Amino acid sequence: ALDITLRPKYLKDYIGQEKVKEQISLFIEASKKKSEVLDHVLINGPPGLGKTTLAQVIANELKKNIVFTSGPLLEKKGDLAGILSQLEEGDILFIDEIHRLNPSVEETLYPAIEDFRIDIIIGKGSSSRTVRIELPRFTLIGATTRAGMLTSPLLSRFGIVLNMDFYDITSLKSVILRSAKILSIEITEEGAFEIAKRSRGTPRTANRLLKRVHDYSVVHYSGKIDKKIAQEALEFFEIDENGLDQNDKRYLFTLVKRFGGKPVGLSTLSSALSESKSTIEELIEPYLLREGYIERTPKGRIPTEKAIKLF
Ligand code: ADE
Repeated sequence: ALDITLRPKYLKDYIGQEKVKEQISLFIEASKKKSEVLDHVLINGPPGLGKTTLAQVIANELKKNIVFTSGPLLEKKGDLAGILSQLEEGDILFIDEIHRLNPSVEETLYPAIEDFRIDIIIGKGSSSRTVRIELPRFTLIGATTRAGMLTSPLLSRFGIVLNMDFYDITSLKSVILRSAKILSIEITEEGAFEIAKRSRGTPRTANRLLKRVHDYSVVHYSGKIDKKIAQEALEFFEIDENGLDQNDKRYLFTLVKRFGGKPVGLSTLSSALSESKSTIEELIEPYLLREGYIERTPKGRIPTEKAIKLF
């Protein structure tokens, strides 16, 4: 619940993702100058980078309402139709995990976002008829961890695509200092830096670690966080110097030790780790790829020297 208070409300408070901010602020300004509704936006990037937060920020900047839903929540056409029929001119519909829309719901979405209408069938059999509902112009913001998993008709209907990347340590440090201030946690720059280094490029992780390190300090010290206390707490929580968490280490251990560095396919890894393929591909691997611990080859995943050295 406290996370809500940590989320930035406007672009000026949103730390990092400079390119994304520059782009979206230009499109927001243009839409205001043209008095036109913002074109549909796809936000692409790994979990925990603030895709939902960015959607809320866009709505705040436009001074419009935003309705939140997700691909898996929209089970039937009627679920989507119900939400669409409540929208007002310029409102924002946010669909998280939009790559997980059921195909019949996705088909209902096409005319809604292209021509701002939906056709619904009322009744059954010979007495059924189609009713066309005109919708106000609205903006769809879709979020996905894998833009490559969107069908091409859906992808091509987004006029704006924002690609988010992992945060650098300096930005994460700023996120931590900002959150600490909001939560009234006393922390030094060095303390924030220690947490930032181990946050896997992800503000969600940074904020979680800040709270856990604070807990540690409340119990063992005065609640203050400095470099030494942060290091001690992070060691206690078994988060190593490289920012790898238990999931990462288990994954790398499996590649290096269990499979001896030979290429391993996704299905094999999924069974070996008892994790779903999507957890592996969308949550665990992006950071390990980006930090150069693993490579993807046609035959499967292989650990790099950097990973092998860890064990
Ligand atoms: N909290 C989480 N993500 C943030 C961000 N990008 N900027 C500021 N505060 C945040």
